Amino acid sequence: MSEPRTRAPFGRRLARVESKVELGAYALLTVADRAGPAGPRPGQFYMLAAAERWGGDGERPYLPRAFSYARVRPAGGVGDGAPDFGSTVDSGCMLEFLLEAVGPGTRRLAELEPGDAVWLTGPLGVGFRIGARPGVRRLLVGGGIGTAPIVCLSDDVGEGGEVLLGFRSGRHARAAELFGTPADLATDDGSVGRHALVTELLRERLDDGGSGTPEVYACGPPPMLEAVRAICAERDVGAQLALESGMACGFGACFGCVAPTRRGYVRLCVDGPVLDASDLDTALFAGAGH
Ligand SMILES: Cc1cc2nc3c(=O)[nH]c(=O)nc-3n(C[C@H](O)[C@H](O)[C@H](O)COP(=O)(O)OP(=O)(O)OC[C@H]3O[C@@H](n4cnc5c(N)ncnc54)[C@H](O)[C@@H]3O)c2cc1C
Ligand code: FES
Repeated sequence: MSEPRTRAPFGRRLARVESKVELGAYALLTVADRAGPAGPRPGQFYMLAAAERWGGDGERPYLPRAFSYARVRPAGGVGDGAPDFGSTVDSGCMLEFLLEAVGPGTRRLAELEPGDAVWLTGPLGVGFRIGARPGVRRLLVGGGIGTAPIVCLSDDVGEGGEVLLGFRSGRHARAAELFGTPADLATDDGSVGRHALVTELLRERLDDGGSGTPEVYACGPPPMLEAVRAICAERDVGAQLALESGMACGFGACFGCVAPTRRGYVRLCVDGPVLDASDLDTALFAGAGH
């Protein structure tokens, strides 16, 4: 099984924004990380802060914000099958982040333009564990902005992975364009794909009698993750869930991200964000989500 954690260098570092592409309701920010490790693991995340105007008009800086990376590629290169949004650096690695502007921090990051600088800490946390076991049927489930780590997970798993995605609307569903392999889509408004929740697609796949032992990997809002947990528990199917909570530091110091598990409280930034669903009584705990 590949190690689900690549360790971050000490401290934060400056990185250059290479490009920003509008993708429906989201922005795809590509950052040239010259000093970080080239091999973050799917599900790991970075703490980001704009180098300038990070604090709005009052100039009281915000805390950095947590973002899963959506894709990593060697500087100057483009991953197999991945759309090329353009790159210009020739050393380090390129990190792509999918952003949803929901508040002051994400809005500022979504405003960044090529040439701007961001502070970057990471990669942080523990990502998805992808074993090399034969006969495993991998079901990758993303909901909304939780699609971000499913993109790089799908890159790693390759063609054998079955990708199921759910979005609020067709505008949000544009994020499906990031995938090198076709994905099954559901939207809340029925404008693209099935008029259903993505958990409905998952339930059908698990009950379709397909060959292989199913293993589910999911990231999305807490109600979706709780539904995935319950569906998998009912069927005794293994699942790994990438959870979110408010994160102030990202590296274990503030205890702002604790989550209750059957083993006691864990810090999602160091023990997660990916946890085994079997460790949880529920994915809907106080503080879950953003
Ligand atoms: C491990 C981890 C990985 C993450 N990966 C990503 C990622 O890849 N892309 C991404 O865009 N975000 C990601 N997030 C969420 C992101 O960190 C938050 O959206 C961000 O911190 C919000 O900061 P803000 O200053 O913009 O808004 P805040 O001021 O923190 O929040 C503003 C308001 O928006 C609400 N809110 C916050 N986030 C969301 C949301 N996503 N949807 C709906 N309402 C929300 C808050 O409850 C609050 O009411 C991740 C979070 C974690 C913990
Ligand atoms: S975010 Fe500070 S301990 Fe997890």
